[in-house]
Amino acid sequence: MSEEPKVLLVARNGPVATVILNRPQALNALNARLLRELEAALAELAADPEVRLLVITGAGTKAFCAGADLTELAAKTPEEGRALSQWVQEIFTAVERMRKPVLAKIQGFCLAGGFELIMACDFRIAADTAVFGQPEVTLGLVPGAGGTKRLPRLIGKTKALELLMSGERINAAEAARLGLLNVVVPVEQLDHAVDEFVAKLLSKSPVALGIIKDTVTRGLELDLAQALAYEADQFGAALGTEEAREGLRAFMGKRDPAHRGS
Ligand code: CAA
Repeated sequence: MSEEPKVLLVARNGPVATVILNRPQALNALNARLLRELEAALAELAADPEVRLLVITGAGTKAFCAGADLTELAAKTPEEGRALSQWVQEIFTAVERMRKPVLAKIQGFCLAGGFELIMACDFRIAADTAVFGQPEVTLGLVPGAGGTKRLPRLIGKTKALELLMSGERINAAEAARLGLLNVVVPVEQLDHAVDEFVAKLLSKSPVALGIIKDTVTRGLELDLAQALAYEADQFGAALGTEEAREGLRAFMGKRDPAHRGS
């Protein structure tokens, strides 16, 4: 059988990079090749100073991503399963650690590893066709891409355990009610909703955005005293940037700041 054509696409539009999981015939399931390409693309985009913001989405209308590729998973030993889990965790953690906003643009099925990927993103914008869930338990499996850690942090332990242990799917309205989504729109408005959200972020200082993301993410891993100390460090660091100087000058000059991400 010939190898699938590009399983990951990256589309650049000025400072915005859109990363597209491109296996629609398998509901964009994460096979090893897609994971390798995703890992490489994230590293490249994180290091590219021209890229200020990432959008992650799935090809086609039926799915964002239906999780790990079950045909590949079925052939793995427990040791290989453990290694796969660690690898996917590292890739998703790279999304969370990247000092740039990462938005998930979601329609259709967003399940298991796909759901766990959007949990590592900073913002989640969904069409009303989106369906979320952690179905691993229905296969006798457990989530292995951060879901048991990030879901309770996002929506609280009670609802997280319900989703993780029932394997039930929820629709976009319910996901929004639980606090998982920033925006839900009719599917035909999804592009516009993402563009609007992106424009809002691009109008802000990229350096400040990166520091806020880092301070929130790391802060959640620390106790309150350590987290506040870290916030103070980052506040000081932000004050020393040209972006902050420009913001303060602009305020005093009664004009809009010119934020170029210097
Ligand atoms: N892996 C590999 N192939 C998948 C897949 C997956 N996770 N999900 C769907 N596909 C494939 C199907 O096999 C099918 O391929 P064929 O046309 O060649 O038969 C194609 O995508 C379309 O899927 P369906 O025909 O099943 O579509 P449907 O509309 O009837 O059902 C669905 C959609 C409910 C999402 C169903 O496909 C499904 O349940 N998928 C599996 C979801 C799942 O359990 N994922 C768990 C992954 S484990 C994991 O992710 C662990 C981790 O944390 C890393």
